[in-house]
Amino acid sequence: MERKSNHFSGQLGFVLAAAGSAVGVGNLWRFPYLAAKDGGGLFLIIYFILVLTFGFTLLTSDIAIGRRTQKSAIGAYTEMKPKWKFLGILTFLVPVLIMTYYAVIGGWITKYAVVYLTGQAKAAAADDYFTSFITSSTSPVIFALIFMGVTAFIVYNGVQDGIEKVSKWMMPILLVLVVIISIYSLTLKHTDSSGQVHTGIQGFLYYLTPNLEGLTVQRFLQILLDAMSQLFFSLSVSMGIMITYGSYVKPDVDLNKAVNQIEIFDTGVAFLAGAMIIPAVFVFSGTEGMGAGPSLMFVSLPKVFAAMGKAGIFVGILFFVTAIFATLSSCISVLESIVANCMEIFHTGRKKTVSVLSAVYLAASAIIALGYSIFYVEVKLPNGSTGQLLDIMDYISNSVMMPFIALLSTILIGWVMTPDYVIDEMERNGKNFRRKKLYRIMIRYVAPVMMFILFLQSTGVLS
Ligand code: PHE
Ligand code: NA
Repeated sequence: MERKSNHFSGQLGFVLAAAGSAVGVGNLWRFPYLAAKDGGGLFLIIYFILVLTFGFTLLTSDIAIGRRTQKSAIGAYTEMKPKWKFLGILTFLVPVLIMTYYAVIGGWITKYAVVYLTGQAKAAAADDYFTSFITSSTSPVIFALIFMGVTAFIVYNGVQDGIEKVSKWMMPILLVLVVIISIYSLTLKHTDSSGQVHTGIQGFLYYLTPNLEGLTVQRFLQILLDAMSQLFFSLSVSMGIMITYGSYVKPDVDLNKAVNQIEIFDTGVAFLAGAMIIPAVFVFSGTEGMGAGPSLMFVSLPKVFAAMGKAGIFVGILFFVTAIFATLSSCISVLESIVANCMEIFHTGRKKTVSVLSAVYLAASAIIALGYSIFYVEVKLPNGSTGQLLDIMDYISNSVMMPFIALLSTILIGWVMTPDYVIDEMERNGKNFRRKKLYRIMIRYVAPVMMFILFLQSTGVLS
């Protein structure tokens, strides 16, 4: 019956789909930016340690809960403790919010891929190109709708024939592309106007070397919090996505291995993204040239590509195709987790559910895409930044809800259900859960405390 089509074929299909969710703009535009800002190698070391402790704990929990309950967030939390249904609903709301704007970002990337493919690389490097694009009231909407449509089509085709099938070819290609671009970045060489030579290797060393200059306790804490919030955005945890994907994993799959592979894939791509972006920016515009967030991808990089000359057109194409794959597989996972929850709540079939939700999100994407033109608003967010519609959605879902959900879920698992709830699932069929002790300590003590601090910081209470 329906259940059968709702499973990944095996470990590889699951790992690649989950890695598809994990690898996204977080890896491409946020990780390199943070690494450059937060002391290069210092950030890298902190981030890697956190992946192996904190990230591992949250990812293990989400996936194990999903497979144990065979349900998505709302159903899963309700099954664990009926009184905690509210946490399931809250978790469900994160992708519901993210979905309103993720296809808009996917649309921007698609637009740039088209721009580079049609040989307009020079135009894209102009100062106000990005601003004039997103403030237009047609093009961003059209591209957002296309991106949303493609996402919906894949999800419509189901877990194995849609999500898994697409991930199985997109993710390996993505990995190859990032490796190729990183190697190219390392070979770059450029003489600036004052006759000084800058090389990709120097940029790479700048990325790897821990910069301890001006390091105070406060700055260290800031770096720690940056790394932590990056981490769970990057692993797609605490938003129910990994619970949904976990619920599609067959009982004989070794979750320990799967968790490790997903972590390695996501962290590996993040590291490589830094290796392709930081040296390139370093060579052509120095350390000051790193933009934050979207401006890195849509403003700083096009300038770097332009400075590469003819090769830049080609590198630009490869880069934006990589970015499309990364964003599409994430967007798919966001929609899938909404679809899965709705199917369980309303007892509807996949096709009908996807159709209805697509209509809703085509409209929502159009509205958010128009947030820089017709529906322009400017709001000052509690963390001090100002933003438009897209940033508001992003702030609520990622800065407010996710740390809060992570905090509550560590309390639920660590203290109400007790860690054995997850450990039993990890050891199902005699599998060996090697980091069991670490998991226990993290989920009960360390993670709740860290999540609480992060929550205070990202909501502006602590600054
Ligand atoms: N994990 C993705 C990234 O690193 C981001 C993401 C957020 C994906 C929310 C799905 C849902 O970019
Ligand atoms: Na990621």
